[in-house]
This record gives sequence, structure tokens and C-alpha cells, in this order.
Amino acid sequence: MIPLFKVNMSEQAPAAVAEVLASGQIGQGPKVVEFEERLAERLGSHRVATVNSATSGLHLALHMVDTADGRGPDPDAEVLTTPLTMEATNWTILANRLRIRWVDTDPGTLNMDLDDLARKIGPKTRAIVVVHLFGYPIDYERLDKVLDDAEASHGFRPVVIEDCAHAWGATYRGTPVGTRGNIAVFSFQAVKHLVCGDGGALVLPDDALLQRARLLRWFGIEREARLAKPPDVAEWGFKFHLTDINAAMGLANLDEADAAVAACRANAAFYDRELSGLERVELTDRSPDHVSSYWAYPLLVADRPAFIRHMTDAGVMTSVVHRRNDLHSCVSEFTAPLPGLDAVAERLVCLPVGPWVTEAQREQIVTAVRAPW
Ligand SMILES: Cc1ncc(COP(=O)(O)O)c(C=O)c1O
Repeated sequence: MIPLFKVNMSEQAPAAVAEVLASGQIGQGPKVVEFEERLAERLGSHRVATVNSATSGLHLALHMVDTADGRGPDPDAEVLTTPLTMEATNWTILANRLRIRWVDTDPGTLNMDLDDLARKIGPKTRAIVVVHLFGYPIDYERLDKVLDDAEASHGFRPVVIEDCAHAWGATYRGTPVGTRGNIAVFSFQAVKHLVCGDGGALVLPDDALLQRARLLRWFGIEREARLAKPPDVAEWGFKFHLTDINAAMGLANLDEADAAVAACRANAAFYDRELSGLERVELTDRSPDHVSSYWAYPLLVADRPAFIRHMTDAGVMTSVVHRRNDLHSCVSEFTAPLPGLDAVAERLVCLPVGPWVTEAQREQIVTAVRAPW
């Protein structure tokens, strides 16, 4: 069976981790600093704070939102967010006791429908969470325009948190996603392009937020200063820091991640060529400005259960990967009509696209998709 996901682990990673294990320092230390420096070089932003997962990063980002826009805590505050994502995107909103307001899905890109976003921004909007789903960048230019209009109408500019969990390596007009002046959160979990075992990183828009994130990821305690004198904690924080074990893995996997993104793009380009124009298969949008990391390759198919069975019989694992979040009973109070999402939710399925897919296997995959089911 051709797997849908595999771990991108470099041959250097075991030795790099073994070195940390033998060093006597396995918590947050010099490897974390070095990993942040390497991430900063690749992203072209020095404001990088690593954390132990993207879930922690999203939680911390939403926690900081209460002061990021200067408006202070508000029990009615809403976060405008997409339901088509992994639950981590949205459960961190609930964990911060913020209210969810669902924004519809653009059936072409599967990302947030920015026209629906424009309609829903209002005085209660505390933050907007966007996801570059499967690595396809959102339309930043349109988003900036929506925020400009919101600022003109409501007198404030909502904070945007970008969930870049799938988007390591994705670019918008040649620039890495997550570096447009919003709060961005990357995931380095086991099956992402860049693997730390578990890990993540925030990219912050200014130095004050960077310092705050670095403090709050470890109880609000200044790690270096505490050795010189007992530190005061002005603002309590969390235990969200990355360890040197995970950072060493991430450092060893940086080149592996570049290779993974390149392989995914090559496989995706092949599928784009071979699968366009089929009767029961619809591809998602492409634009030269939006270069996806292709963490997964989405398709919209007729009769998805039959398609998945048909692909399994052909030796190919496929899956919806992320199911709509808005139908879970824990969020029933936030239910909203979402026609764009309804149009794709039952047809969405993902094909294997990672570096483990050989040329012969991608031919096998295309042949199976072209065969009747
Ligand atoms: C869209 C999205 N956001 C957030 C996360 C959470 O990432 P992590 O596992 O690093 O906490 C995931 C995990 O797969 C994800 O797919």
C-alpha cells in the first residue's frame, strides 16, 4: 500500500540526537538557539520563537491576542476562523475561552472565503485565524484589503493568526508564508515536511511580542537572568518550550525538509498534468503567486466512499485528512450556514504526494484515479 504520510527523517538525525542525549543538557539550550537562527535565516525574519508543538504555538498566540491589539479582555470576543482544518486550529480558541465564529470555505482553494470574512468582521472580532490548508497560501493581498476596510469601518485592525502547520516551504509571490506581519505558527510534528518529532515555531510581527512569547513559553521566567538573581514573574506563562533533543532533530532535518517540499511539488505538478479534465475529479485552484508546499494533494471526487475503496483496492492509501470541525457537538452553539464548505466537504480526499512516492507509484496512482469507481 502506498502510504499517505511518512516521516521525513534524515540519516544524520540519530547521531545529532545521540549527541544531545550524551551532552548532559537535554532541555531548552544551545540547540534551540541554533535551530531558531536557522529557521530565521530560511524565513527571512529574526522574530522566531520555537515551541513544543503548533498546538502550543496557537494557544500562546491566542493568549497574547488579548493585549496584541490594545483592547484588553472581553468575554464576548469572537475569533473568526475556518472550520476546514485540523481541530488544533479551533480547540485552542476554545481553550482560551474565546468564542468561535465560523467563516465559510472558498471551494476553489479550500482556504477561508475572504468575502465571507469581510462580511463577518465586526466590533466583537478579536482575532482572525487563517489556515494555509495543505500548504496552499491564502490570498494575502485580498486579506490586507479586508483588514484595511475593517479598520476604516470599525476603527481597529483585527490581529491575524496564520496557522502555517502545513505550509513549511510555501511561498506567496516568492516570499515564505508566515512573514507578512501577522502572528504565524508552524508545525514540526512527525509527518510534517520539517520534523522535530514534535515541535513548532511562532513568527512574531514585532520585538515586544517576540520577547513576550519567549517568556510565556516557559512560565514567564527569564531563563538566563534567573541564574544571576531570583527573577520576578510579571506575567505567568506556560510550559511550551522546545527541547534540545527536538531542536537537534529539526536541525538535522532542515535539508531533508527542502528535499521533501521539492519532491511534493514535482509529484503535484505531475498530478496536475495527468488528472485535469477528468469527469468525476475536480482539482483545486492554482496561481503562480501562490506556491503550495503540497503537504497533501487535495482532490474533489464524486462518491468519495467508493473512491477511497477503489484506491485501497489499487494499493493507494487516500483520506479526507481533516474533517470539518463545525459539526462536533462541543461547538454546536456556534453553528452557522456554510454553503461553500457544504459544496466540498463530502468530496474532499487527499492523494499521497510525498517524497516516498516513486515515479512508478505516481503512475500507478494516476492510473487508479483515471479508472472507473
Ligand atoms: C492545520 C493544523 N494546525 C495545527 C496542527 C497542530 O500541529 P501540532 O501537531 O504541531 O500541534 C495541525 C497538526 O497536524 C494541523 O494540521
